[in-house]
Amino acid sequence: MRRITIAIDGYSSTGKSTIAKQIAKELGYVYVDSGAMYRAVTLYALRSNYIKDKQLDVDDLISDLNKINLKFIFNKNLGYAEIYLNGVNVERDIRTMEVSENVSRVSETPEIRRQLVHEQQKMNKQGGIVMDGRDIGTVVFPQAELKLFMTASSEIRARRRFQELIEQDQNVTYDDVLNNVLERDYIDSNRNDSPLIQAKDAVIFDNSTLTLEQQYKKIMDLVKAKLGSQNAGDKID
Ligand code: DC
Repeated sequence: MRRITIAIDGYSSTGKSTIAKQIAKELGYVYVDSGAMYRAVTLYALRSNYIKDKQLDVDDLISDLNKINLKFIFNKNLGYAEIYLNGVNVERDIRTMEVSENVSRVSETPEIRRQLVHEQQKMNKQGGIVMDGRDIGTVVFPQAELKLFMTASSEIRARRRFQELIEQDQNVTYDDVLNNVLERDYIDSNRNDSPLIQAKDAVIFDNSTLTLEQQYKKIMDLVKAKLGSQNAGDKID
């Protein structure tokens, strides 16, 4: 059976990665969390002291790009791939508030985007991939057969994210998380290079009201429709 490319974009904390992992597992596809790559570069910049008081020294970071090696390695126990920065698993270290508060500065830098987009494109071997992020359906895989765009109210997203951070024993308040969600929405949507926009051919999911189960079912129906039509040689636009 032909394997398709599935691009999932949307605002932060809309549950993109949870649904993307589930879909990839069901289909036996590779799942790639492109946000983890921007987060890992941010972690590198923080550890190198290239970010102070939210100010990024762009030139220093760019001149180090060839020293930043990112790799996803599949974790059999978890059922998905984890990100490694220069050979070290940083999956947990990249999810802190400190990284969240600084990642937008890194991800608005065109040189960094160019390099990461190139690496993301190389991961796609003729389909069989689910990638989530902000520019997957518009820039990374504009040819993706299925594009989804996830959204939800900022309060619902902040509440979910706050819960996750509390479960990881991180010392944060709900207001900090909400402010971070709003700030990232603004920067992600207004940056010059590859802003977060909905691809023309994306299907929108507002998961403020949909449960994970409902989303999963709707997405699998879309996947089946695409696969069915492709096997029959048609094209759904
Ligand atoms: O998906 P996430 O929240 O973990 O992503 C972290 C940040 O990385 C997000 O605020 C914007 C940026 N990002 C991006 O610019 N392009 C992508 N394809 C993925 C993430």
